[in-house]
Amino acid sequence: MKKQIHLNGFIQNSPSPHSTGLWKHEKDQGTSHNSLAYWIETAKTLERGKFDAMFIADVLGTYSVYENSHDAAVRGAVQLPAHDPVIPISAMAAVTEHLGFAPTISTTYAQPYSLARQLSTLDHLTGGRVAWNVVTSYLESEAVNLGLSGRLPKELRYDRADEFLQVAYKLWEHSWEDDAVVYDKENDTFADPGKVHPINHEGEFFSVPGPHLVEPSPQRTPVLFQAGSSPKGRDFAAKHAEAVFTKNHSLDGLKLYTSDIRRRAEEQGRNPAELLIFPMILPIIGSTEEEAYAKYEELTNHVSYEGTASLLSGHTGIDFSQFDPDQYIEDIETDAMQGNLDMYGKDPNKRWTLREAIKNHGLGNGTVKFIGTPEQIADEIERWAVEGDADGFNIAQTYSPGTFTEFVDQVVPELQKRGIYRTEYEGSTLRENMFGRGRRHLPADHPAKKLVPVHS
Ligand SMILES: Cc1cc2nc3c(=O)[nH]c(=O)nc-3n(C[C@H](O)[C@H](O)[C@H](O)COP(=O)(O)O)c2cc1C
Repeated sequence: MKKQIHLNGFIQNSPSPHSTGLWKHEKDQGTSHNSLAYWIETAKTLERGKFDAMFIADVLGTYSVYENSHDAAVRGAVQLPAHDPVIPISAMAAVTEHLGFAPTISTTYAQPYSLARQLSTLDHLTGGRVAWNVVTSYLESEAVNLGLSGRLPKELRYDRADEFLQVAYKLWEHSWEDDAVVYDKENDTFADPGKVHPINHEGEFFSVPGPHLVEPSPQRTPVLFQAGSSPKGRDFAAKHAEAVFTKNHSLDGLKLYTSDIRRRAEEQGRNPAELLIFPMILPIIGSTEEEAYAKYEELTNHVSYEGTASLLSGHTGIDFSQFDPDQYIEDIETDAMQGNLDMYGKDPNKRWTLREAIKNHGLGNGTVKFIGTPEQIADEIERWAVEGDADGFNIAQTYSPGTFTEFVDQVVPELQKRGIYRTEYEGSTLRENMFGRGRRHLPADHPAKKLVPVHS
């Protein structure tokens, strides 16, 4: 059997969040992100295309590094308005049966006790179709609005995230036993108190006695997604994540990433093949190659320089208003998103000027573009999966949800024809669709399973 690929749809509760300025395009409906109809249509489209999940990115602040102001972000709708990623999920779950949902939630600002409850509730309501994109957040504007005097240093953010997950694992995996709920009407007992345990977590960042507020949900722990790219972020992903997202310009860049992250997973005592790797791609589809490239140029015309400069400044933590557009972007360390800076400062194939980086970053947040006919795009997908060792792809959009619709109608049938993509969902939970039937829960080699419960 040929290597099978998985697909996620990359979206955010904001107008044209990943292609800056595309809200102006005649085909874009992203400005309707404040309506349930938009989410319902998008979810149904992804399920028609047999996608594993809708991956919903999120930020809790404005992009205000550029010119030390949020004005450019406000003017250009740069991930602003930024609506909540979790709230549309119940409505989408009601109109779909198989599609998973992966909201982004920050361990720097949430509390594990309440977040565990929220995601367990959603896992119940969706019948086991929830994932969590675990982020530590990178914007200063998030920190100062959420009770901190400034952005925490990256090391500390990841240390907190690590303990956050330990607390959440204890609640999800070790608080309620499988048979705790007995529904015993004769003995007036809904659940057996001897099988609902406190977790008594005492750590550096959190003190959580428990017990968990929700009885075991179909998956217990939601599927864990992560996208760390700094060394500390990669170690964190290799330890905890079941799937990782990455952004690359080139197949060579992807190869370096996949071999590195699988090595790190092995060092953590995990099966490296079970860490699914999803590079992000932006498909630009035409009926001929020429048409696709003409479409790319036309889409690029909608990208705003200032809006994208503001996005890139927020992603990298560098105020690019201070730069000459023809200045080269250097290889330095950042406390914001290392991967976004490395794409331009560490590219082995090219030195990027700011102007070039902005042109690139404006469509699909700078990720690789697959431009061509459906067959050519399927060729590239196959090549990146086989040579780059990718397990799936995170599909970004130019105009929304039209990019998904075109991909589902034109590229998905081509992938299915080649025998590299499902024609039916494998299981009923998201984890089963990603890892195979019967795999509702985390595997035994995952750190959540190795925690020794306090009550044992
Ligand atoms: C494809 C992709 C999507 C991401 N989505 C988000 C997001 O929605 N919200 C967020 O705060 N960070 C997001 N990130 C950032 C990372 O998860 C990570 O927290 C950030 O890159 C900083 O850590 P690092 O320097 O280790 O990468 C994303 C990164 C990538 C590559």
